[in-house]
Amino acid sequence: MYSSALLTLLALLCNVQAQTSSSVYVEPTVPTGTPIPGDYSGALRPQLHYSPPIDFMNDPNGMFLDANGTYHLYYQYNPLGIVAGNQHWGHATSQDLYHWVNQPIAIYPGAAGEGIFSGSAVIDVNNTSGFFPNQTNGVVAMYTLNTATEETQEIAYSLDGGYTFTKYAGNPVISIGSNEFRDPKVSWYAPTQSWVAVISYAQDFTIGFWTSPNLVNWTHASNFTHAGILGLQYECPNLVSMPMLANSSLADPLDPSNFASTGEMYILQVSINPGAPQGGSISQYFPGTFNGTVFTPVDTATRFTDFAKDNYAGQFFYNIPQSSPQISIAWASNWEYAQTVPTGPLEDFRSFMTLPRTNVLANTTRNPYTLLAYPLPPPTSLEITPSTPLLSSNNLTNNTLLASYTSTVPSGALSFSINITNIPQVNTTGTANFTFLSSVTGEYVRGGVFLAGGNGDTPLWLDRSGVRGFDNPFFTDKFSTDVWLNPDTSTVRLYGVLDRSVLEVFLNNGEKAGTMIFFAEGILDTVIIGTNDLNPGIGVSVEVVGLGSAWAAEEVGGGNGTVLGNVTAMAGGQVMRRDWVGHLGEGM
Ligand SMILES: *[C@@H]1O[C@H](CO)[C@@H](O)[C@H](O)[C@H]1NC(C)=O
Ligand SMILES: *[C@@H]1O[C@H](CO)[C@@H](O)[C@H](O)[C@H]1NC(C)=O
Ligand SMILES: *[C@@H]1O[C@H](CO)[C@@H](O)[C@H](O)[C@H]1NC(C)=O
Ligand SMILES: *[C@@H]1O[C@H](CO)[C@@H](O)[C@H](O)[C@H]1NC(C)=O
Ligand SMILES: *[C@@H]1O[C@H](CO)[C@@H](O)[C@H](O)[C@H]1NC(C)=O
Ligand SMILES: *[C@@H]1O[C@H](CO)[C@@H](O)[C@H](O)[C@H]1NC(C)=O
Ligand SMILES: *[C@@H]1O[C@H](CO)[C@@H](O)[C@H](O)[C@H]1NC(C)=O
Ligand SMILES: *[C@@H]1O[C@H](CO)[C@@H](O)[C@H](O)[C@H]1NC(C)=O
Ligand SMILES: *[C@@H]1O[C@H](CO)[C@@H](O)[C@H](O)[C@H]1NC(C)=O
Ligand SMILES: *[C@@H]1O[C@H](CO)[C@@H](O)[C@H](O)[C@H]1NC(C)=O
Ligand SMILES: *[C@@H]1O[C@H](CO)[C@@H](O)[C@H](O)[C@H]1NC(C)=O
Ligand SMILES: *[C@@H]1O[C@H](CO)[C@@H](O)[C@H](O)[C@H]1NC(C)=O
Repeated sequence: MYSSALLTLLALLCNVQAQTSSSVYVEPTVPTGTPIPGDYSGALRPQLHYSPPIDFMNDPNGMFLDANGTYHLYYQYNPLGIVAGNQHWGHATSQDLYHWVNQPIAIYPGAAGEGIFSGSAVIDVNNTSGFFPNQTNGVVAMYTLNTATEETQEIAYSLDGGYTFTKYAGNPVISIGSNEFRDPKVSWYAPTQSWVAVISYAQDFTIGFWTSPNLVNWTHASNFTHAGILGLQYECPNLVSMPMLANSSLADPLDPSNFASTGEMYILQVSINPGAPQGGSISQYFPGTFNGTVFTPVDTATRFTDFAKDNYAGQFFYNIPQSSPQISIAWASNWEYAQTVPTGPLEDFRSFMTLPRTNVLANTTRNPYTLLAYPLPPPTSLEITPSTPLLSSNNLTNNTLLASYTSTVPSGALSFSINITNIPQVNTTGTANFTFLSSVTGEYVRGGVFLAGGNGDTPLWLDRSGVRGFDNPFFTDKFSTDVWLNPDTSTVRLYGVLDRSVLEVFLNNGEKAGTMIFFAEGILDTVIIGTNDLNPGIGVSVEVVGLGSAWAAEEVGGGNGTVLGNVTAMAGGQVMRRDWVGHLGEGM
C-alpha cells in the first residue's frame, strides 16, 4: 500500500490534465492519453519480443487484427509497480508482430480497489451491439472486473478502432455472485450468427460457454468441466478453430495446399495456475468440435502447449480467417517467480510475451491431434546480413562449429536451425546440441536432441542451470520432452530463437515447443553447435542467423534506449516521467 499524501503531492506536481478517454481512473499519477516511455536498451531486455515500457505485465488480452492489418495487443498491466496489482489494460500495436508501438493505456479501473482483469476483444462489424451505427470498425472489449466482493464480466466499446474505450453504462453484462469467475474470450460463431464467450469458473474447474446475439445479453449454454490436469485453478480459456494438416508434421504448416479438405477443428485451450505438473503455470489444450453451444473433445487426453515452464495464458487473435493458421501470443513467465525476476530491480520492468506463433493441428506419429505452434519468421529486414549467416554447414556430422557474435550481433538476438536427416529407425545413436555462452563469465544456456532414446524416441532437452543472475527454488533449470521419429521422413528439425533473456525452441514445425526465460550476469556472446556419435549416413545441416533489434528504430536521442511509443496518437495527453512516479504500487 502507498501513502495517499504522496499521491496528492504527485498529482499536484504532475498537473494532470483532463482525461481524454471515457475510461477514467481514480489514480491521478497514471498517465492517460499518452504512452509511457521505456528504456529498451537493458542487457536483459529482449529485442524481438514484446515487453512493457516499464513496470509489471502479465496476461495478453484483447488481441485482434483490424481491417487495416494492424495487430492489437492489450495486456494485464500495473503501471504503478513491478509486481502485479492495479490491473489496467496496457496496449501496443504492430504491423508484423515483431515491431511494436506502445500506445496509451486502453482501459483503466474506475474506482480504488477495482482491477480490469483479463479478457478479449472483437470487431462488431455488423453493429450487433448498437454501439456503432456509423462504422464497421467498432471494437468491443469484454473483461473481468475484479473487486473485493465479486468478479463480474463487463464490456467497453471503442469508436476509434481500439485506442480508447467507453465502459458500457449497463455493466456488468454477466454477474453470478462469484469471486472466482473470469477471463472471457469472445469469438463469433457464424452458423448461428452468435457471439460465444468462454469464461472460467476458476475453482470449479469448469469452462462456461455463454452465447449472445449482441455482446450485451448473455445466456449460459453449456459447461466443460473437470478435464485434463486440474491444477488448483482454470484460467484464460480460448476457443478457436484452425486448419488441420492432411499429412505429417513436416508438411509446411503455412501452405494451404497441405490442409485437410475435411475442414477445421477446434481447440479449447485452458491455462492452469497454480498446480502445473512442473510447478506454477502452464497451458493445456483439448482438440474437438463445437456446434455453437457444446464443445466435444476428440478424446480424454491432456495435451500441453509447451514442455518448459514459461508459457502461460496464451491468447489467439480475433479476426484471423478461420481457414488460416491461427496466431497466438502467450505470457513468457510463470507465477512461481514472475514477480521476483531481476529485470525488476535492474531494468524497471517485468515480463515478456512469447514470439507470435502460428497454430495448426496435425496428425503426428502416435498422436492424431497435435497442435503445431511455430513462430512467425522474423521479418527479413531484421536479419543481419542474411546472405552470410553466423554459422552455416550442410554436413555438420560428428563435428562442432563455434562463432563469437559480440561485435556482429549487438542485439544479442539470433535464430538457429538444425535439420537432421536420414535417421535410422533402429539402433539409432548420436546427439546434436547447441550452447549459447558468455565468454566473459562462462555462463551458458544449452539444449539439444538425443537420437538414441530407443527405436524412434527422440528426446529434446533444455538447460538454464549455467546462468547465475537469478536464484530461486522454483526456477527449475532443466526441461525435456520426446517426439516419435516419423518413419516416413526420418527427419528431425529444430528451430529456435535466442533473445537476450528468453530462448524458444521448436521441434518438427512446433510439434513440441519450449519457452525458457533466463537471467545471466554476463552477456551471451558465443554460439556453439555440435553433433557426435551419429550413425553413418545421417545428415546434419545447421544455420545461425544474427537478428537486429526491433526496438532500436524507435529509440530516441542517439540510441539511448528510450522508446516513447505513439506520442502523437491522442491530443491532450501528458507524458508522465518515470522519475516522478517511483515505485508506488510495489508490494501491494
Ligand atoms: C451517427 O451518425 C448520425 C448521423 O450523422 C449522428 O446523428 C449520430 O450521432 C452518429 N452516431 C454516433 C454514435 O456517432
Ligand atoms: C484504417 O486507417 C484509416 C486511415 O488511418 C482510418 O480512417 C480507419 O479508421 C482505420 N480502420 C480501422 C479498422 O481501424
Ligand atoms: C456480419 O454479417 C454477415 C452478413 O449477414 C455475416 O455473414 C457475418 O457472419 C456477420 N459477422 C459478424 C461478426 O457479425
Ligand atoms: C456450470 O458450472 C457452474 C460452475 O460450477 C455452475 O455454477 C453452473 O450451475 C453450471 N451450469 C450448468 C447448467 O450446469
Ligand atoms: C438486453 O439487456 C439490456 C440491458 O440489460 C436490457 O435492457 C434488454 O431488455 C435485454 N434484451 C433482451 C432481448 O433480453
Ligand atoms: C450441440 O450439441 C449438443 C450436445 O450434443 C446438443 O444438445 C445441441 O442440440 C447441439 N446444438 C446444435 C445447435 O446443434
Ligand atoms: C492419423 O494417422 C494414422 C496413421 O496414418 C491413422 O491411422 C489415423 O486414422 C489418423 N488419424 C486422424 C485423426 O487423421
Ligand atoms: C558428411 O560428412 C561425413 C563425415 O565427414 C562424410 O562421411 C559424408 O560423406 C558427408 N556427407 C555429405 C553428403 O557430404
Ligand atoms: C541393432 O543392434 C542389434 C544389437 O547389436 C543387432 O542385433 C541388430 O542387427 C541391429 N539392427 C539393425 C537394423 O542394425
Ligand atoms: C550433447 O549433450 C549430451 C548431454 O549432455 C552429451 O552427452 C553429448 O556429448 C553432447 N554432444 C555434443 C556434440 O556436444
Ligand atoms: C560418427 O561417430 C560415430 C561414433 O564414433 C561413428 O560410428 C560414425 O561412423 C561417425 N559418423 C560419421 C558419418 O562419420
Ligand atoms: C531446415 O528445414 C527447413 C524446412 O525445409 C528449412 O526452411 C530450413 O532452412 C532448414 N535449415 C537448414 C539449416 O538447412
